[in-house]
Amino acid sequence: MTGPVETPVAAPRPPPSALRIGRLRLASRYLLSPLAGFTNLSFRRAIHELGGAGLCTTDLVNARSLLARRPKALELIQTCPADRPLAIQIFGHEPGIVADAARLLETEFDLDSVDINMGCPVARIAHNGAGAAMMKQTDATISLVREVVEAVELPVTVKMRLGWDSQSLTAPWFAAAFEKIGVAAITIHGRTREQGFSGQVSLDGIRRVVEAVETIPVIGNGDIRCVADAARMIEVTGCDGVSIGRGALANPWIFRQLVQWEHSGSWDPAGDFDDRLTLLLRQFDFLVEQKGIDRAVVSFRRMIHWYLKSMRVRRGLRHRFQQVQTRQEFDAAIERVRVEGPRKFSRSPEPAVSEIPVPAGPNAHW
Ligand SMILES: Cc1cc2nc3c(=O)[nH]c(=O)nc-3n(C[C@H](O)[C@H](O)[C@H](O)COP(=O)(O)O)c2cc1C
Repeated sequence: MTGPVETPVAAPRPPPSALRIGRLRLASRYLLSPLAGFTNLSFRRAIHELGGAGLCTTDLVNARSLLARRPKALELIQTCPADRPLAIQIFGHEPGIVADAARLLETEFDLDSVDINMGCPVARIAHNGAGAAMMKQTDATISLVREVVEAVELPVTVKMRLGWDSQSLTAPWFAAAFEKIGVAAITIHGRTREQGFSGQVSLDGIRRVVEAVETIPVIGNGDIRCVADAARMIEVTGCDGVSIGRGALANPWIFRQLVQWEHSGSWDPAGDFDDRLTLLLRQFDFLVEQKGIDRAVVSFRRMIHWYLKSMRVRRGLRHRFQQVQTRQEFDAAIERVRVEGPRKFSRSPEPAVSEIPVPAGPNAHW
């Protein structure tokens, strides 16, 4: 593998102790954030194979849909032994429904922890009082989370933002209250709902959440793209681990790099063009295994678009994949990608982070 040379970053001394989330002991403190539409079973398996990820989380799943056993919800929580440990993220605004969904997960499905979404800024979810809207309702939110914690033996975690807007930075208050009612860990995305995905992550805001709890781990999140970003977040905020979303799409090797850094202070470069192509095909094979070829070809369109963009494959060739219907057409298009390689004749492209899709603003419909 070859790749851009990164700035050296001193390894942490003493080495950090293992990250525990309730009864769960994680192999690393580097976690994959949920990215709806991307962090599905096939991607998580690919990430686990590359190594270094301590815990992956599913896309957010509607608690009501789960209870109704809607096929879409059941597909989102599909897993396999290679996909562990796994957190399933649920959302909803009715305490009984969310608690019942957690109970159903614990009794009938394979998972290691339940994560409650309190960060989603999207109108469809927040308008109903779920996602980031929970950051505005203290009593109702505490009751909901308490009901979920009491419903299951599994560790329950919460993923939230700093607050609804800059006038109401409620995350430290919630973190302290959640610890008291038995939440096992908090993930904090260092932006408000109002910010959506714009502006900079506030390390100061994350630090306040770390300072608000006594013993439970706080996982910092937002804008980590490389080892130096993670090291900085850990150093400045004192967080116990970091969760990486878009940075893992751009560089799926980032978890392994972080573990290498922690042990030795140096790390291998991210995969080059050929490594990314191999990874893409590996993920596609996992998808075929799960869904069969016909559905896999169609449902891989979103993911492959991202892969090929990050590999700097020319637009015309990328778009061919949006029309492919059969394995034969898929293989032929892949062969073209292999032969043509990336634009600008570089086989070690640095993925363009700005190209990672995000909802356009806080009110975007995902
Ligand atoms: C396309 C997309 C989908 C997302 N889906 C979810 C989700 O299902 N649940 C959730 O808690 N956060 C979701 N997020 C937020 C991310 O988990 C993460 O908090 C945010 O992107 C900041 O971290 P990053 O800079 O490492 O990506 C999503 C973000 C993006 C861009």
